[in-house]
Amino acid sequence: MRSIHQIRGAAHPPGWENSDSLETLRQKICSCMACRLGATRKNFVFGEGSLNAELMFIGEGPGRDEDLQGRPFVGRAGQLLDKMISAMQFRREDVYIGNIVKCRPPENRVPERDEADACMPYLMKQIALIRPKAIVLLGATPARFLLGVKGINEVRGKWQRIEGISTMPTYHPAFLLRNPPAKKTVWEDLKLVMALLGKTPKPQ
Ligand code: URA
Repeated sequence: MRSIHQIRGAAHPPGWENSDSLETLRQKICSCMACRLGATRKNFVFGEGSLNAELMFIGEGPGRDEDLQGRPFVGRAGQLLDKMISAMQFRREDVYIGNIVKCRPPENRVPERDEADACMPYLMKQIALIRPKAIVLLGATPARFLLGVKGINEVRGKWQRIEGISTMPTYHPAFLLRNPPAKKTVWEDLKLVMALLGKTPKPQ
């Protein structure tokens, strides 16, 4: 019988589901070839952060810098994400940062549905192992694949639930680099998340 993890013929590494820690999971899946992105990646970008993170961010997928370094959000969008994290009174190492797909889509295109489907069980396993108190979805791609909406504006700023975890969709930092006035809106969304986590913004 096909398991739910074997979607559209994707072959996941054997036994990955039984990983009982993030490190075991990373070791089991880091050579994954379950979708076409495995063939063109330079590095697998598993995600990083605290194993007991209260707060998790989910982006779209690795870009050029992330593919080169094997780490999520290390390019220009990542620098802005770092500022967002610190404005929320967290340190980057206290939160967890992941993506819908763990391998770079060529030319930074949006991940295809089958690529996101192939990678989704890994992300769900990460969420299950970390059990954050809140998740922030960055941009349209995680909103589309995790919430089933067509666009970010359908859900932006409104609490959602993923596996029972309070989830706030907001704009992607790369969008904010192109549209700085939208930073105000994102800050309002992030303040809702801070309130849930008992954090207060620093007085200006
Ligand atoms: N954009 C993303 O969505 N994820 C990254 O890791 C980097 C840029």
